[in-house]
Amino acid sequence: MARPTTTRRVGILTAGGDSPGLNAAIRGFGKAAIGHHGMELFGFRDGVTGLVENRYIELDSARLSGILTVGGTILGTSRDKVHRWNVDGETRDMVPTVVENYEALGLDALVVLGGGGTAKNAQRLVDAGLNVVHLPKTIDNDIAETDTTFGFATATEIATEAVDRVHSTAHSHHRIILTEIMGHRAGWLTLAAGIAGGADVVLIPEIPYTVESVADTIKARLERGSSFSVVAVAEGARDVEDTADYEAAQLLVQVAKTPEARRAAKAHLAHVEDSQREHSFRLARELEAATGLESRVTILGYVQRGGAPCAADRLLATRLGAAAADLVARGEYGVMVAARGDGTVPVPLSDVAGKVKLVPPDHGWVEAARKVGTGFGD
Ligand code: F6P
Repeated sequence: MARPTTTRRVGILTAGGDSPGLNAAIRGFGKAAIGHHGMELFGFRDGVTGLVENRYIELDSARLSGILTVGGTILGTSRDKVHRWNVDGETRDMVPTVVENYEALGLDALVVLGGGGTAKNAQRLVDAGLNVVHLPKTIDNDIAETDTTFGFATATEIATEAVDRVHSTAHSHHRIILTEIMGHRAGWLTLAAGIAGGADVVLIPEIPYTVESVADTIKARLERGSSFSVVAVAEGARDVEDTADYEAAQLLVQVAKTPEARRAAKAHLAHVEDSQREHSFRLARELEAATGLESRVTILGYVQRGGAPCAADRLLATRLGAAAADLVARGEYGVMVAARGDGTVPVPLSDVAGKVKLVPPDHGWVEAARKVGTGFGD
């Protein structure tokens, strides 16, 4: 039943890398906003790009039907940054344009579905006076202040199945198979899938590894009669030396005082990151030399982000979407809707923007894995 509300016109967009559950969240928010609170809803195309270029469609109940189970996002997405817009090779701040478009459409609020980068964009719009609510999505599960994010459960299912499946082929050929899983900063997905898929070694960015330690775990298995091993390795995992180089390059960016020094430090960081990109293949060669077992690499890539969301993500996205509609109806803005246990809580965006939730090296999942004999390469 529609109830009287002062918030009548709301915009919504999806930004950052796509993630299973985005459509479920659009639907969850939209059905509650339109059906329960009597609002009108406008969907901006391709993340903040649509907001800057004023490209949107009206989302009515019919448009929201049948999308709960659909992967990707019906609105499209991008990783564009609202304050750093490239126009003919020049960088411009488009926040004033976004404010104009928001006002011209007569919006009362804007709902943004995204990860850490989106939270930063959202904070800039809040600072410019817009009424914004953020919903946490990412397969990486690395957003601060929320128990979890939608997309993570689905990606965990997919990566777990992959780790499961490589077991039989590794076993048949007496090989080491390294399964590279997404997550360039946080290792949650690799850790979850590695544990659930029974990987023998789990390598994540938060725990630097040495080749010797990984090889020791594999050799110990050989001695016990297991002539194969499965390694779940995060795309951002690094050995001890690479970690030191990477952290030193990051520090240079942080301490750079002038724009020129910052540019040079960023270029150096990009170079370090580039040189470390093929690390799974290098590790496979090193393990082959250290153990005498043939090694192979499987990079899971975008299958982890594509396709239908699992039941847990559909449930989470619907809960967060409906909770966001309530917040918008109450005029509670400048917040992210965090998942906490079975409930949700609004958290100030300033507590989320620019932060990354990493795996604490003594996290319960890590400790449980160590107790069942999983190696972390440290
Ligand atoms: O943030 C989600 C994520 O899938 C990361 O795990 C991965 O490192 C990154 O996006 C890849 O981004 P893109 O698709 O833009 O290359």
